[in-house]
Amino acid sequence: MRNLFIFGVLFFAFSANAQIAANNVTSIKISNESSLLIQTNEFDLELIPMSNSNSIDYLEFSYFPKNNKEKWHHSYTIFHEKRMELLKNRGLKFQKVQGGNSNTTELYFIGNYIIEIEKQPYNIVVREINISQSTKELSNQYFNSNVILRDYANLNWINEDHKISKNFELMEDKYIGLGEKTGPVNRKGNAYTMWNSDVPAYGLEQDPLYVSIPFYIGVNNHNSYGIYVDHSCKSYFNFGAACNFTSISVEDDHLRYYLILGNNTAEIAKKYRNLTGHTPLPPKWSLGFHQSRWSYKSQDEVMSLAAEFKKKNMPVDAIHLDIHYMDACKVFTFNQQQFKNPKLMVDELKNNGINIITILDPGIKIEKGYQAYDNALKNDLFLKYPNGQNYEAGVWPGLCAFPDFTNPKARKWWSESVKFYTDLGISGLWNDMNEPAAWGKEVPTYIRFNREGHISNLTQNRNIYGMQMARATREGAETLLQKRVFTLTRAGFAGIQRYAAVWTGDNVASDEHMMLSFKLLTNMSLCGVDLVGADVGGFMNPATPELFTRWMSAAAFTPFYRAHKMIDMPQSEPWCYGDIHTEINRYYMQLRYRLMPYLYATMQNNEFPALKSMAYFQELSEQNHENGFNDKFESQFILGNSILVAPAKSTQKSTEVYLPKVPKSNKWYSLHSDIQYAANQKYYVASPLSQLPIFVKAGSVIPEIIPQKIENTQSKTDTLNFHVYYSEMGDYEGYFYDDDGISLKTTNSPCVSIQITGKPMSQEIEFNINKIGNFNFHYKVLKFIMHGLPQTNVNQIDDSPKPRIMRINNQQFVAPSANVVESYRPHFALQQDLYKVDKIDKTANPNYIFHVNCPNSSFKLTIE
Ligand code: GLC
Repeated sequence: MRNLFIFGVLFFAFSANAQIAANNVTSIKISNESSLLIQTNEFDLELIPMSNSNSIDYLEFSYFPKNNKEKWHHSYTIFHEKRMELLKNRGLKFQKVQGGNSNTTELYFIGNYIIEIEKQPYNIVVREINISQSTKELSNQYFNSNVILRDYANLNWINEDHKISKNFELMEDKYIGLGEKTGPVNRKGNAYTMWNSDVPAYGLEQDPLYVSIPFYIGVNNHNSYGIYVDHSCKSYFNFGAACNFTSISVEDDHLRYYLILGNNTAEIAKKYRNLTGHTPLPPKWSLGFHQSRWSYKSQDEVMSLAAEFKKKNMPVDAIHLDIHYMDACKVFTFNQQQFKNPKLMVDELKNNGINIITILDPGIKIEKGYQAYDNALKNDLFLKYPNGQNYEAGVWPGLCAFPDFTNPKARKWWSESVKFYTDLGISGLWNDMNEPAAWGKEVPTYIRFNREGHISNLTQNRNIYGMQMARATREGAETLLQKRVFTLTRAGFAGIQRYAAVWTGDNVASDEHMMLSFKLLTNMSLCGVDLVGADVGGFMNPATPELFTRWMSAAAFTPFYRAHKMIDMPQSEPWCYGDIHTEINRYYMQLRYRLMPYLYATMQNNEFPALKSMAYFQELSEQNHENGFNDKFESQFILGNSILVAPAKSTQKSTEVYLPKVPKSNKWYSLHSDIQYAANQKYYVASPLSQLPIFVKAGSVIPEIIPQKIENTQSKTDTLNFHVYYSEMGDYEGYFYDDDGISLKTTNSPCVSIQITGKPMSQEIEFNINKIGNFNFHYKVLKFIMHGLPQTNVNQIDDSPKPRIMRINNQQFVAPSANVVESYRPHFALQQDLYKVDKIDKTANPNYIFHVNCPNSSFKLTIE
């Protein structure tokens, strides 16, 4: 009884206290620059509309608690210039809606949105209205309008324990995003932490991993939205786990996030890229196969490894040198006993089309006389304790100090030091252990970072450290070499795509890890990071031959393709698993190189994610949309717009796949057999090791090359194939892009692109060729390979199939009819100068060879 009484008193006191703390709005103003300034008892909020186009694309919310006098926000993701560019569109103005009870609520229009501000207590709702409105019409429209985002009642703002939390109603069924995160694709019911961590052999559900990307999409069939939280401090996301609201929390003294407005996942993903940057076109060689292990320990070993690839007739473009290439693990050195002449090695390999990539760890060995250490010490570039003493911890070389990459001076020093590698002809640099890692141990939070002159601690800076290391490496190498370089990183933050490719760290050789890897990759790509890959075969533990082979085949369709293995493990090159496996590995490695024109074009056309999960298209498959989130299909992915890969576990001989509805198409073809499947359905398909389930969207036009010998990305052929996957909808799409593969790209760089589009409901496919500068388009023959061309009408007289007519512009020819023999793929080709068809060469029926004019302008392919 007594206890009850005490509880009652406490409860009363607590609720009375909660009421006193009510966070009421004290003023709302539209500023000259067209932002909305809202003041409450607890904070000042500035709401700023931003645009990349003519309409509103983003709403920036900046909350500063009353006690925050400095109002300083630094973003390593959205630089000042970028923000200014997005602010340029001053046509966007808030307009107050008159009427109503403005004591309790005020309404403001901005573009097609209404901001509804409840005042006692503060609460904000963003709604979309569909048509241009006048104030008079507001009442009806307003009540019919869609709520995009609604604050969670009067529990929407908590500022406690050095952490600010903002809570929203848990309105959506689906939340996707957050980059490199394990767990279900749909984040609802789960909570996540953004805290870059060194997590060897991480668990299948482990959180956090190495990369933090505080961006997610609330998926809704009518109006999805994105939230990007622009804080690199430790932060937390909760989608109704142990609470009934959505919550973002930052360990910072203020809160800035962007509400990204758009209709569907694709639109929001695109706008997120516009905000945080695109993955630059990598050097073409970096899209080839990479071979790595911890470590190839000598020059001889590296040279014979390269020779072995040739002998085994397996393509390779890069060999990675892990920590043993260094002298005692000291960055910016080579072990001179084991690598007698690194320059010679690099040059010789390069002459054979193979690039060396060296690992760089941030930990600098504390050793007097070691140039890098002496230099950084002299210039005061290391992370520090509050008393000014350098922070020191153990990593591979022993006790190390760590450059402070949030200090512009340290970045400059590091960028210049990279000359050690570029002088040797190395243009591939692998940034590791940059969480930063200290033997997996907790680093003290009170370490001081410069943060562009605003000294702050680990909580503020850990998540940004790896990205700033990658930035310094990338900028250094690019400036020194004046060509495209390849940089790889383990740790990163939102925007990392601008500086480096990312791999998913120390995974394990298991089917579960393989399946997880594809999910991590599509998630990263959704969040802007396209050049991604996992350690193929699994880093830790030996792989079974089946696992290695399955992983090699599925990863052949991921942008960064590298086999890597931990120290003390058996050899794990693609020929180490027995003849049959070698054969299958070779086939898929070569298939990747055959599809290199498709992959390169995908990486160049970087507006949308290069890898897409099934959830990406869920808005299109309304009645079946649960399949997009079904964990059975979470590892499936689409590379570019056309090729869907359904990784199956290594022992699985048949696999259930889900072929989603995607734009402009209603069916899929098996890549292996051309069998057609209606979209928006599930199927069981055969998945023996030799035959990974791969599908191509109907209406795709896919460029392919088949050099006689495929050794690396420099292997060439005269013939460029276009695989045309027949679609009765007529809505064809395809893209080809080529340049010299290495020069830094500007808008005028010599290149050629071919935009391939079909007219809906016709069978007219336009090939629009755009050549810039003096680019040498070396292909002499363009060959068209028709897939799924339906049987033509039957000839009345003798029942034989009537031949199909195809035309290139006005030149007519007879196309071979399909389905004559199973696996028979009718094809025809255009030779040399495109356009004017001079001659039809039927000698090699069913190959129709066309002699045409130079591919300088466009042509039309018609199927009748
Ligand atoms: C880290 C990396 C791994 C590398 C090893 C040795 O564990 O994640 O890829 O092989 O360090 O450098």
